[in-house]
Amino acid sequence: MLKAVWMSDPHFVNDGDVLGHDPRLRLQAAIDHINQHHSDAKFCIISGDMVNRGTRTDYDALRKILDGLVVPFLPMVGNHDDRQIFRKTLPVPEFGMADFIQYSVETPNGLILCLDTQKPGSDAGTFCSTRLTWLRSALENARDTPVYIFMHHPPMLLCLPMQDTENMENGEAFLGLLAEYDCVKHLFIGHVHRPITGTVKGIPFATMRSVLYQAPAPLPEWDWDSFAPAKEPPNLGILNIGNAFVNLQFVQFCKYEHGTNG
Ligand SMILES: [Fe+2]
Ligand SMILES: [Fe+2]
Repeated sequence: MLKAVWMSDPHFVNDGDVLGHDPRLRLQAAIDHINQHHSDAKFCIISGDMVNRGTRTDYDALRKILDGLVVPFLPMVGNHDDRQIFRKTLPVPEFGMADFIQYSVETPNGLILCLDTQKPGSDAGTFCSTRLTWLRSALENARDTPVYIFMHHPPMLLCLPMQDTENMENGEAFLGLLAEYDCVKHLFIGHVHRPITGTVKGIPFATMRSVLYQAPAPLPEWDWDSFAPAKEPPNLGILNIGNAFVNLQFVQFCKYEHGTNG
């Protein structure tokens, strides 16, 4: 059995808050929870938006805090990240692409692929032909090995009218590729700051809450001009993956009030 922790969207800043939430307190609470209760996990995957603004100072401070994890961590890029600073400051696994933060991690229970869906300068994502070629080759080589894919941007609509304007722009081609391969067992997606599960082209998927701030439910209606985070607590995902078995538990690691002014 592979046990892993899944964390998303820390939006770290070295000082100040983000939309009334303190990223340092929230991230530390997540790390404390993992160290206390899930130190037997093989690693912690962090599905993008590592920082909120992408400055060197933020990444340096983030690295220092993440080094407090007793399990290794696998960092991923989101729309808020800077690939150059990311690569200089965070530990990117070696089996991956040179120009993208896209890599694979082999485990006895399957292959983990962490994809780069960033489109620089945009909050929406993309998946260019270079990344698609790498992915096709990884899926070809996997043959019968189960493959678990982590990515920041959703490649499909999620019935979230506001977030759906910022998903992966060529998701149809991406999903068409995945649907050709029976080895693809599950997608794990960040970016939307809200938990949703379902299937797409027959492939199960889950999205995850942010460790920092949560997006409100679609109703009552809201838009980006009036956006305010929902007063909902954050989650971590605890994953247990075995032979033809995927179990994801959404775990609350602190109260909403922790790191906010209530
Ligand atoms: Fe985010
Ligand atoms: Fe994002």
